[in-house]
Amino acid sequence: MEEVELLLKEARRAMKRAVAPCSNFRVGVALLGRERVYTGCNVENPSLMLSECAERVAILKAVSEGEKQIRALMIVSSDNDYCYPCGSCRQLIFEFAPEADIYIASRRGIRKYTIKELLPFGFRREL
Ligand code: THU
Repeated sequence: MEEVELLLKEARRAMKRAVAPCSNFRVGVALLGRERVYTGCNVENPSLMLSECAERVAILKAVSEGEKQIRALMIVSSDNDYCYPCGSCRQLIFEFAPEADIYIASRRGIRKYTIKELLPFGFRREL
């Protein structure tokens, strides 16, 4: 199966696992690492400050599993429109998936971006 199709299928599956009682807005993400796919969904909490975006869940899952090369990332949501990642998630992508192809899918099609397009002049500091 073509890479983009596989990611779309996995992101849609992940979206079904979203826990979104507060917003009713479901998001699913699939990341392509060096050899495998990681997924994430948004997980909300009644204490709203603890809610997590799907991108953040997927990226931290991958990084915590030792993934060193996130090659592509697919974002889907339950909305009709394209779901662009929030500012915090853009910074995480900038940090951990700087070379990734970023796909955002809606019912109208799939758009492709780089993180440099979505986050020009992102914060960088060598530690
Ligand atoms: N959300 C994501 O998971 N990813 C995005 O790119 C935008 C927003 C989540 C956060 C919250 O659970 C819900 O969508 C509504 O904002």
